Amino acid sequence: MSNIKDLFVEFYGVEPTVIAKAPGRLEILGNHTDYNEGITLSAAVDQATEFALVPVEGRECRLHDFRDGSTKEFSLDNIDDPTGGGWANYVKGVISQLNKRGIEIGAFNGAILSTVPLSAGMSSSAALEMSAGFAFKEQFNIDIPKADWARIGQGVENEYMGANTGLLDQFSSLFGEKDALIYSDFRTVEVVRTVPLAHGYSIVVVNSMVKHNFTGESDYNIRRRLCEGACAKIQTKFPEVKALRDVSSEMLETSKELLDQEEYLKAKHVVEECERVVLGTELLDKGDVKAFGQLLFDSHESSRVNFDNSCPELDFLIEQAKSIPGCIGARLSGGGFGGISIHLVEEDKAEDYCKQIITAFKLQTGVDTETFICKVGAGATVENI
Ligand code: GLA
Repeated sequence: MSNIKDLFVEFYGVEPTVIAKAPGRLEILGNHTDYNEGITLSAAVDQATEFALVPVEGRECRLHDFRDGSTKEFSLDNIDDPTGGGWANYVKGVISQLNKRGIEIGAFNGAILSTVPLSAGMSSSAALEMSAGFAFKEQFNIDIPKADWARIGQGVENEYMGANTGLLDQFSSLFGEKDALIYSDFRTVEVVRTVPLAHGYSIVVVNSMVKHNFTGESDYNIRRRLCEGACAKIQTKFPEVKALRDVSSEMLETSKELLDQEEYLKAKHVVEECERVVLGTELLDKGDVKAFGQLLFDSHESSRVNFDNSCPELDFLIEQAKSIPGCIGARLSGGGFGGISIHLVEEDKAEDYCKQIITAFKLQTGVDTETFICKVGAGATVENI
């Protein structure tokens, strides 16, 4: 495949001045914990989005997408208006967030090239936001703490796109470490440590092919409100609680009569996911991968029955994972309601596993799924050309 520099030269007739690259991410454990100030285990993948730019005079910007050949144009004077922006809104949103922080950038011609599957649950949007952000950082000398780039990306999702998501996606895209999981804490907003990945196992991604949408009156936003509602009620009994992250299973049980059934189940998922992240980290430290795999199955079951963010296609894939040889754990990954599932599979069986699950999925749904044997890559980078 052509590289972004050559494509850029072909399209704009000049070389780019900077090229940034930001990966997609996999949520390994810690589902819907990030906006509850909780903890997660995640990884950056080696599928990434590249963003190249060259500064131009004036106020008009152009953006070209080499995936589908589309071009978007917009003015820096009209950056807060998302109307008609399409995919370029993830870039305009970053500029809008920078402006809100008192940071102005100059006009540019930009282009993107990406291997992160779209709307699948590997955070193609975060990869685009972070690659654009890093390109702006380098070109326009923006000096802000690294974690603020994740906050900028979150601001794009929350304020520009209307999805009240947390920091997990952008954070993983920025701070991912090659061949390791990162353990992140979204109260202190930091990577606490890296966690060794089990040798001899591959992370296989299987797409449910169900597209999700987190914006507006979405299931995602409704879940977030239920979590916050549950937390507010638990606070009346335990004033020290600041977020669901502070609630133990015991506290939740003694608060049960304060909550309606929906709130109770959503809170239970989040509380137990945080517990699974702690336990899962201990298990990986000890090298007990099989027990870690079981936690992935447990997490999915909790998504299915408590958080209600699975769907029949995802449930089918996780059931298959229990019968196809080689898999020791699987769950939906990311927001849910469609998107991807992750499967921890013995390395030497991974290729065969993909073939079998593709066949089973086709028989069940009539739909061709896509699978990826993922490599865990490093976080965002940028280079001056
Ligand atoms: C999406 C959101 C993240 C996180 C996950 C669920 O990926 O963007 O902030 O909430 O869902 O854990």
